[in-house]
This record gives sequence, C-alpha cells and structure tokens, in this order.
Amino acid sequence: MVKVIFVEPNGTERHVPDAAEGQSLMEVGKANGIEGILADCGGACSCATCHVFVDPEWWERVGPPDDIEFAMLDMVADVAQELSRLSCQVKINAQLDGLRVTVAPASAF
Ligand code: FES
Repeated sequence: MVKVIFVEPNGTERHVPDAAEGQSLMEVGKANGIEGILADCGGACSCATCHVFVDPEWWERVGPPDDIEFAMLDMVADVAQELSRLSCQVKINAQLDGLRVTVAPASAF
C-alpha cells in the first residue's frame, strides 16, 4: 500500500494510507471523498475536474503530462501551473509512497 496526501482546496490535509499500486491518483481521491476531485469524465482525460498541483519535491517522480493531457490543462489555463497534473493520468506506484498534491480550485472552464 502507498500513502498519499491530498490538500483540499480549503487547505485541509487528508492522509490516505492505503492507495493501491495501479490505481490512478484520481481513483484514490474519489474513493476517499477528497474535496474538489470531481472526475466528471471518469478518467478519460477530457474534463480537467481532477486537476492537482504536485508538490515540487515529487515532480520528478510523478513526471510531466503527455501531449494530450497538456492540451487539456491548457483549457484550464486560468488555474493551471507548471506543476499541474490531471490526477486521472497519474498511476500510483511504490515510488510515489508519501506523495503530496494540492487539489486545484475549480476552473472557469
Ligand atoms: S477525470 Fe476527467 S480529466 Fe481526469
């Protein structure tokens, strides 16, 4: 099991101790009722309602978005930052044990 920390948009820090490898970060957020992870498209990389900001120290291990995800993030450029990822596109693995992300505020998109 992998530990993941979500910071909800209101600043509440939520610790999830039991994320499973192979789950997406979005699935972990939804399963644990994390505020702000709406995932309207169900993980198809087409809604950006699973947007998170990766803590800088985790960015290298999480890695950057691919072209399709990057294009989707461009649609929410009002809130996107250089450490933005769509959590449905981040797969949990053992290297991410302790990962900390902040849920992005709702976008105008
Ligand atoms: S759930 Fe829609 S883009 Fe991630």
